[in-house]
Amino acid sequence: MQREMKTSSTHHQINKHRSFIIILKYFFISLFLSLPLFLFLLSLQPNHRTTTTTTTTVSGDLLRIRPGYSSYENYIQRQLNKTLNPKLRQIWTTRDWERKIKVFSQFFDQLKRQNLLSNDSKALCIGARVGQEVEALRRIGVSDSVGIDLVPYPPLVVKGDFHNQPFRNGTFDFEFSNVFDHALFPEKFVAEIERTLRPGGVCALHVSISKRADKYSANDLYSSEPLVKLFKGSDLVHLKKIDGFGLDTEVVFRKREN
Ligand SMILES: C[S@@+](CC[C@H](N)C(=O)[O-])C[C@H]1O[C@@H](n2cnc3c(N)ncnc32)[C@H](O)[C@@H]1O
Repeated sequence: MQREMKTSSTHHQINKHRSFIIILKYFFISLFLSLPLFLFLLSLQPNHRTTTTTTTTVSGDLLRIRPGYSSYENYIQRQLNKTLNPKLRQIWTTRDWERKIKVFSQFFDQLKRQNLLSNDSKALCIGARVGQEVEALRRIGVSDSVGIDLVPYPPLVVKGDFHNQPFRNGTFDFEFSNVFDHALFPEKFVAEIERTLRPGGVCALHVSISKRADKYSANDLYSSEPLVKLFKGSDLVHLKKIDGFGLDTEVVFRKREN
């Protein structure tokens, strides 16, 4: 009797053990089967890097706004910290002055040869700081040239925010900028260029695509594609490799006539 009871209890334990193994088996099978679904759902996430760094992406993942600007004032202040630095301003207006004018003149001369700029052009340089690019334009004969920057530097540069240019629609025949990476709102930066250019007017940008720009930049561009998409009202004229003060690509657009 006692042996029977013992045998029944052993059977009971074996059954319990078997059931546990079966449950465990099904658990692992279902885990294994749901893995592809889990990986698929993960791949549908917008962009892993974007989420973790809180970087905002514009036009896919190839143009990213840098995180860390708590307000527009905070962004402007950061730009001013460098632009107003007295020691740097001294260097820009002395040691760097002629060297930069020479390089800018070569770029503009080439645009003239390609009939994208002429002595009759009314020209604007955006984010011109102390205005070497404006001086370069004037020296090669484009006399009606001016720059804008957050800090004026008369008579070459007047005060103006490139997100809200202080000019009427269709004012300029030609606009140049090498500060696209400083735009916190790239769509606005481009929209303002297209607004203030006359129909048929030309915009030449020097941008950095393969290298990351400096710590004062507000965005990073990983391809020319987003830039071309932002110029909704213009046609791409050319895109070429250059060596311009750390910037590697020249992109030129012409505003459409209609
Ligand atoms: C890298 S520096 C380029 C200066 C100049 N183009 C040159 O090559 O010597 C960037 C300039 O953009 C200006 N900037 C930044 N944000 C701006 C804004 N929202 N509107 C106008 N200028 C701005 C800065 O004040 C600074 O002078």
